[in-house]
Amino acid sequence: MADEAARRPGLEFDTTVSHSARIWNYWLGGKDNYAVDREAGDKVAAMLPSIVAQARADRAFLGRAIRYLAGEKGIRQFLDIGTGLPTADNTHEVAQRVAPEARIVYADNDPLVLTHARTLLTSTPEGACDYVEGDLREPDKILAQAARTLDFAKPVALILLGILHHIPDTGQAYSIVRRLVTALAPGSFLAINHSTSAVHGAAMEEAVAHWNKVGTPSMTLRTPEQITRFFDGLDLLPPGVVSCSRWRPDLTPEGGRPAEVDEFCGVARKPPGATTSPPA
Ligand SMILES: C[S@@+](CC[C@H](N)C(=O)[O-])C[C@H]1O[C@@H](n2cnc3c(N)ncnc32)[C@H](O)[C@@H]1O
Repeated sequence: MADEAARRPGLEFDTTVSHSARIWNYWLGGKDNYAVDREAGDKVAAMLPSIVAQARADRAFLGRAIRYLAGEKGIRQFLDIGTGLPTADNTHEVAQRVAPEARIVYADNDPLVLTHARTLLTSTPEGACDYVEGDLREPDKILAQAARTLDFAKPVALILLGILHHIPDTGQAYSIVRRLVTALAPGSFLAINHSTSAVHGAAMEEAVAHWNKVGTPSMTLRTPEQITRFFDGLDLLPPGVVSCSRWRPDLTPEGGRPAEVDEFCGVARKPPGATTSPPA
């Protein structure tokens, strides 16, 4: 599938450089990856065997967070930036299972994700699903295109899973999130999942250092405290910023809590009266 997409005219893939979306797809058990991605993925997994469990815990968090937002919080609009390659239980599938009228906009800057988004991201007839080819570092462009499908006068859940660690400058990452959140109406939500080394320490740091030599885009680990700052000005929901396997978790078959992974997450609500400046 990946090779077929690379041959389509107008799409530029460098199939000699591994890429985060395709390695992620490999770890999740998908087929949309190249030999170079599998090689890089195996090398990182040899250094840090827990990485595959981490990728799967991230996707499981996505499912629980979207179900919670659509089900318990009544959210009907989602902006998912850093979509990744489609896999089982994508945001629109989870949301529209709860609320068929839910409207979802995906955004990503990887051309391979774009080819799949066009063919795979299909909506229920009652809802809507759109895809924006956009870069997180240009939030206003993403917002302007998302406004074709989403009504920013009403609450939106902004979903930033596994993407902010691809912005190396922490100050820039905070200001991107601030800009995006400012565009949302009060009562909106922000969900973040971000890599850290809080659990596995040096093993995670070495695996990421290796990744940064062979893969794109680069990764920057942040501490749970730095991740918590993304939620400044918002009401962080319980249990706060925790390992994503421990956020409102399903218990293990033995009744225990799942092991922590080096991907920390949180979900927060924009309070009434917070500064709001919708997209132009
Ligand atoms: C690790 S995947 C995460 C996929 C999905 N959100 C998940 O949690 O399973 C990271 C995704 O972010 C995208 N990405 C990275 N940097 C980006 C940027 N600056 N703008 C838009 N997308 C970006 C990659 O192309 C990739 O699809």
